[in-house]
Amino acid sequence: GWVEAIRHDLLNWYDHNKRDLPWRINRDPYRVWISEIMLQQTRVDTVIPFYDRFMKRFPTLNDLATADEEDVVKAWEGLGYYSRARNLHTAVKEVAASYGGEVPAEWNEISRLKGVGAYTAGAILSIAYNRRFPAVDGNVMRVISRWLSLKDDVAKVSTRKKIEALAVQVIPEDRPGDFNQALMELGALMCKPLNPACESCPVAAHCHARQQGIQAELPVKTKA
Ligand code: ADE
Repeated sequence: GWVEAIRHDLLNWYDHNKRDLPWRINRDPYRVWISEIMLQQTRVDTVIPFYDRFMKRFPTLNDLATADEEDVVKAWEGLGYYSRARNLHTAVKEVAASYGGEVPAEWNEISRLKGVGAYTAGAILSIAYNRRFPAVDGNVMRVISRWLSLKDDVAKVSTRKKIEALAVQVIPEDRPGDFNQALMELGALMCKPLNPACESCPVAAHCHARQQGIQAELPVKTKA
């Protein structure tokens, strides 16, 4: 069926074309968490040197939990959006105090942590714990809107929830984290907002927007 075909074609492309990013080589939950918080408002290429520096400064969750907030914010310097660093520090201290320093692998626990929304929770659970949760960011909403030719406004929460419900059905049992990252990678490298590379896209054969020639008009987004 089409679900199996998409899984296969997308993962096969990812296996041969993925970037060797630092948080893909070591999937320690703490490290994945840091990477996903940094990547929320900052591009991959910019994040890499800051991520490496931060990991040298605070190699384990306990190192970060026991640090002074001032030093954490200093290690975040250059990345901007410093509330991310403060919320992360609060959440990491909570994990040290309530979960013995182990990042929770349960949705109800992890999604309650400060600064951990649906996207970050899904990313950590899938990438670090191989659990079948969607990780739907702007890139993934664009990819799925085009695949299924969805005209729903991606600025709406209801659309995000609809796309999450669709995404979870396509995530394979055996490689949830790779599949989610393959969707992100496709959005970043091929299914770009402007001039998507449909000619070389591994899933163009499955793409409804492409079949209708409306890929440039999707996703629909009302507010900035
Ligand atoms: N953007 C957000 N999370 C990412 C990840 N794990 N890999 C690449 N880009 C991302």
